Amino acid sequence: MVNRRIVEILRTGQPDESVTIKGWVRTKRELKDFAFTEVNDGSSMVSLQVILNPDLPDYENTLKQLNTGASVEVSGVLVPSPGKGQRIEIKASQVKVYGEANPEAYPLQKKRHSFEFLRTIGHLRARTNTMGAVFRVRNACASAIHEFFQERGFLWVHTPIITANDCEGAGELFTVSSLNFQNLPKTEAGECDYSRDFFGKRAYLTVSGQLQAEVMAMAFRDVYTFGPTFRAENSNTSRHLAEFWMVEPEMAFCDLSGDMDLAEQFLKHLFKSVLEQCPEDMEFFNKRIDDSVLSTAENIINNQFERITYTEAIALLEKADRQFEYPVSWGLDLQSEHERYLAEELFKKPVIVTDYPVGIKAFYMRLSDDEQTVRAMDVLAPKIGEIIGGSQREERLDILEKRIQSQGVNPEELWWYLDLRRYGTVEHAGFGLGFERLVQFMTGMGNIRDVIPFPRTPLSADF
Ligand code: 4AD
Ligand code: MG
Repeated sequence: MVNRRIVEILRTGQPDESVTIKGWVRTKRELKDFAFTEVNDGSSMVSLQVILNPDLPDYENTLKQLNTGASVEVSGVLVPSPGKGQRIEIKASQVKVYGEANPEAYPLQKKRHSFEFLRTIGHLRARTNTMGAVFRVRNACASAIHEFFQERGFLWVHTPIITANDCEGAGELFTVSSLNFQNLPKTEAGECDYSRDFFGKRAYLTVSGQLQAEVMAMAFRDVYTFGPTFRAENSNTSRHLAEFWMVEPEMAFCDLSGDMDLAEQFLKHLFKSVLEQCPEDMEFFNKRIDDSVLSTAENIINNQFERITYTEAIALLEKADRQFEYPVSWGLDLQSEHERYLAEELFKKPVIVTDYPVGIKAFYMRLSDDEQTVRAMDVLAPKIGEIIGGSQREERLDILEKRIQSQGVNPEELWWYLDLRRYGTVEHAGFGLGFERLVQFMTGMGNIRDVIPFPRTPLSADF
């Protein structure tokens, strides 16, 4: 008897086939002459219905053990299902209960739980319908990301998690240390002496793999990273995590317009792939979470993204027929309410904003001839705001040195990065996609904490 996944049985199983499934009980219904149970193994939204007849060995006792949450193995034959909602079900000939789940204690009983409550049982919430759908979509998305880049000849490179650089220069770094916090070594000036720390200098969790991705792009032309990044920004919002995953392509011999083209093709590919891979989950989100999920996906796939400059964006925001909480003025960064107004209300599709003021962007972005703006681009999505941040990089040594200095970044830590401009420099560009923001955007999930299995946010690192 072959042990099969439920998703596959639901799609292709035929009457009279013998099957074995393994999974967790979702529900049990006892009738006078027989009982039903539904078993889910995480492979699909829909559970497989199992019919239990009294001629089953140890019928009474097995029924008692088959409570919501119990782990089971069921063998039997497939029969056409007379009930509504499923094509096929199993008539059990053997049921083995591995681990019971006491119905008085198991917190996930069959009813709707709020996402807030589910976050308090992060070790069990993956067994719910919504989280099941989220993590299947997340998986399909991750797989589509690799597919997209591999098909185009990009090399997947692994950049370090521990680094001595602050790529974004925003000072939102977690320090990595093996020093004894009860007894810190001090310099003569009374500051912490990091020269006595594990790496002989102060080290951090990376905020971005970009600088190292640039190194690799200068050898392989087109590369990408896909890994965890960390930011100690104290933002308790529905779009910020302290630990999140980022996808960062980097391309040599590429300018900002090539970068934007890639970002647009990339998002279109991901939406197409996920619609193909997870149609039932996407329909579930559309029905239960946000009824614009499917139309948003169609909109992304079929429409060209809008492209405007930051200066044009400011003009549009100044003309807007509404009050914003934060001020709008050339030179100030766009806030999420501004980004959402542009993408959600004005253009009703993703908007790529380019050429931001030099004063609000990172040191590595290429300075334009006007010396007022840099070749930056952010992709703004309806409901989410910024989903991608990227730029053409400064490939000219003298200008890069000046930018580093004027932004107060320590050039000594970046000697190797500057070397890339000394030896075989070339125009290059890349971007970073926030993976959780993408999954949020795709599924319509309101809170970023509900699209990553174990969210890390200020004051919260449970599970
Ligand atoms: O715009 P950011 O800061 O860009 C960079 O880190 C560049 N080095 C990327 C590059 O050019 N290679 O971050 C990129 C994206 C943002 O657009 C956003 O989607 C996501 O990362 N992001 C976050 N996602 C969740 N929680 C946070 N705290 C995030 N901060 C940024
Ligand atoms: Mg950004």
